Amino acid sequence: MIIKKLSFLNVRKISLFSEQFLPQTNIIIGLNGSGKTSILESLVFLITGKSFRKKHTQSIIKKTQEELQIKGIFQNEEDLTIKLIYDGKKKQIFKNNQILKRTTELIKDNAIIYISPEETDIIEEYKKEKQQYFDKIIFRINPQHIYNIKEYNKLLLYRNSLLENNMSTKPWEEPLSLAGLKIWKTRNSFFDFFCKMFNETQKKLDLQLKYRIEYKNQEYQSKEEYIKKLQSKTKTNKTEVGPHKDIISLYLNNETIKEHASQGEKKLFKYVLKFTEAEIVKTKTRKNPIILLDDFFAKLDNENIMKIFSYFHRKFQVIITTTNTNDQTLQNIQKNNTDIKIFNNDKTINSN
Ligand SMILES: Nc1ncnc2c1ncn2[C@@H]1O[C@H](COP(=O)(O)OP(=O)(O)OP(=O)(O)O)[C@@H](O)[C@H]1O
Ligand SMILES: [Mg+2]
Repeated sequence: MIIKKLSFLNVRKISLFSEQFLPQTNIIIGLNGSGKTSILESLVFLITGKSFRKKHTQSIIKKTQEELQIKGIFQNEEDLTIKLIYDGKKKQIFKNNQILKRTTELIKDNAIIYISPEETDIIEEYKKEKQQYFDKIIFRINPQHIYNIKEYNKLLLYRNSLLENNMSTKPWEEPLSLAGLKIWKTRNSFFDFFCKMFNETQKKLDLQLKYRIEYKNQEYQSKEEYIKKLQSKTKTNKTEVGPHKDIISLYLNNETIKEHASQGEKKLFKYVLKFTEAEIVKTKTRKNPIILLDDFFAKLDNENIMKIFSYFHRKFQVIITTTNTNDQTLQNIQKNNTDIKIFNNDKTINSN
C-alpha cells in the first residue's frame, strides 16, 4: 500500500494540511512542536482508527474545534480513498465514498508500521504488555488468534474469580487448558518464524550489534498434564500456569536491553523489531506496508543512519520526521540518492 496524498482538518494544532507523497522516501522537517508527529498520527488514525500517543484519543482533535477530518488517497491494487470524521465520540469512515458499517472492514487493509517516541515503549514494558505487543503482530497474519486470546482471557477471568471465592473451578479446567494449548501452539510457531526473520533483518541492516528475542513458556505435552498443573496447590488464589505467564526477553549481546543498552542501542533494537514486522507483513500478506519513522535522526550516529536508510530506501514507502534542517547527514542522503521528497513542515502547515 502506498499513500499518495494526505489531507486533514483540525488534528492537534494543525487546522489544515494537504501534501502529496512519493512512493519512496519522504522527509518532513520542522521545529519542535510544529506538528510533525501529528501528521504521522493522523495517517495512523486514519488507517487503524487509533492514536499511537499514550494520551486520550479525544485530544487528537484541535482544541476549540468540534471534529476532525482526515482523508487519504492510497494506491493498493487500485486507487483507494479513505476518509474519516471523528467528533470525540463517534468515527465515521468512508471507503471510496461509501460509509463503512464496521471499522474492522478497514483493518484488513491495515498495512502501516510506525516507530515513534510517543508510543508505549516495548523495552520498558512488563510481561503482559510484551505478550500483547507480539500478539498484535500475530493478529495481522493469523486473525483466528484474536478469538483464541479472547476466549482464553474470558476463561481465565472466570477461573480466577471462582478461586477468589473458594468455589470449585473444575468445569473450567478442560476448556481453559484447551484454549491455552492453542495459544502456545500459535505462539511457538510464530516466535520460531519471527526470531528467524529478526536475525535476517539484523543481517540486512548490518548494525554490528547482536540483538536477541527469547520466548519462554511452560507448555505441557498434554491436556491432562496441563489440568494436573492447574489443580496443584498455588500460593496465591490466582491461576499460576498458562500462556498469560509466558515470558518474552529482549537481549543485546546476552545482556537484557532494558538494564544494559544505551539510548541509541535501544532505538536501534526497536527499528530491527519494526522492520522485521514490516518484512513479515510483506511476506505473509503480499502487501508492502507504509513505514513511519518519527524523529528518525535523534540519538543515532551517522553510520547507523546511513545503514538504516540504505536498508529501507526504495524497498518501502517511508515517511520520516526530523528537526534537523541543515544536518550534514541529510545533505549526504539527498546528494547520493534520488526519489526523496523533503518538505518543511513549518512552511506547509496552517495552524491558525
Ligand atoms: N488538541 C490539540 N489542540 C491544539 N494543539 C495541540 C493539541 N494537542 C497537542 N497540541 C499541540 O500541538 C503540538 C504537537 O505537535 P507535535 O507533537 O506533532 O510536534 P512535533 O513537530 O512532532 O514536535 P517535536 O519535534 O518536539 O517532536 C504541541 O505544540 C502541542 O502543544
Ligand atoms: Mg514529534
